[in-house]
Amino acid sequence: MSRHRAQQLASEFLARSDAKGWFEALYAEAGDVYSAVPWADLAPNPNLVEWSISQELKGAGKTALVIGCGYGDDAEFLAELGFEVVAFDVSPTAIAQCNQRFPNSPVSYQVADLLNPSATWSPGFDFVLEAYTLQVLPPALRAAAISNISRLIAPLGQLLVIARGREETDPPGRMPYPLTRKELASFEALGLSNQSFEDYLDNESPPVRRFRALYTAVSTA
Ligand SMILES: C[S@@+](CC[C@H](N)C(=O)[O-])C[C@H]1O[C@@H](n2cnc3c(N)ncnc32)[C@H](O)[C@@H]1O
Repeated sequence: MSRHRAQQLASEFLARSDAKGWFEALYAEAGDVYSAVPWADLAPNPNLVEWSISQELKGAGKTALVIGCGYGDDAEFLAELGFEVVAFDVSPTAIAQCNQRFPNSPVSYQVADLLNPSATWSPGFDFVLEAYTLQVLPPALRAAAISNISRLIAPLGQLLVIARGREETDPPGRMPYPLTRKELASFEALGLSNQSFEDYLDNESPPVRRFRALYTAVSTA
C-alpha cells in the first residue's frame, strides 16, 4: 500500500516535471506513521550490515557521508562503528524525523540535494554510502547524481553502492527503478576504481536482485 502511494506521488510530481518534490510530500504525509514510507525499516540496511561485518569495517578517525539518509538508521549504524558521520536528505521532514528519533546522536543531519551538493563537503569523505537513492531518481537525473557522488569521496576514500539490479535488456520498471551494470560503470568512467561487484538475491520475501559495489577514489598526490 505504501509503495503504491509512493508510486502515485512520484507519477504526479514527474508529470509536473518535478522529480524530487514527491519525497517531501511522502514524508510529510506520513508524519509519525513511519510505515507509510515504503523503505522505512527503522533498522540499518541488512545489505550494509552484512557487508560491514564481512569487511570488518571500522570508522575510528574517519569521516562518512550517507546519501539520501531517510530516517537515519544507516547513519546511526556507521556512527556506532566510529565514523564521524554527515547524513543528508532532500526532505526536510525526513531530517526532522532523524533529529526527533535520535536526539543525542553524534550524526550531523542536513537537508541537502544530491543534485546540488554542499560546497562544505569538499574535499570529500573517507566512506560514502549510497543505498537506494539512485534507484528512486528517474534515469534522466541519474548521470548527474552519479557524477556528484563521485566527487564526494576523499582521495583514497571508499564508496559503497547498494541498489536494485537489472539486465540492460529488462524493462526499466516502475519506481524504484533497478539500475544496470552499465549505469554503475559510470563511476569507473569518472575515475573511481571498482574493488568488488556483487550481483545477488537478497533475503527479502520475495527476494530482490541487488547490486552491491565498492569503489575507491585514487590518490590525488
Ligand atoms: C528509497 S529512499 C532510501 C532511504 C535510505 N537510504 C534507506 O535505505 O532507507 C531514498 C531517499 O533519498 C532521498 N532523496 C531523493 N532524492 C534526493 C536528492 N536529490 N538529494 C538527497 N536526497 C534525496 C529521499 O528523500 C529518500 O529519503
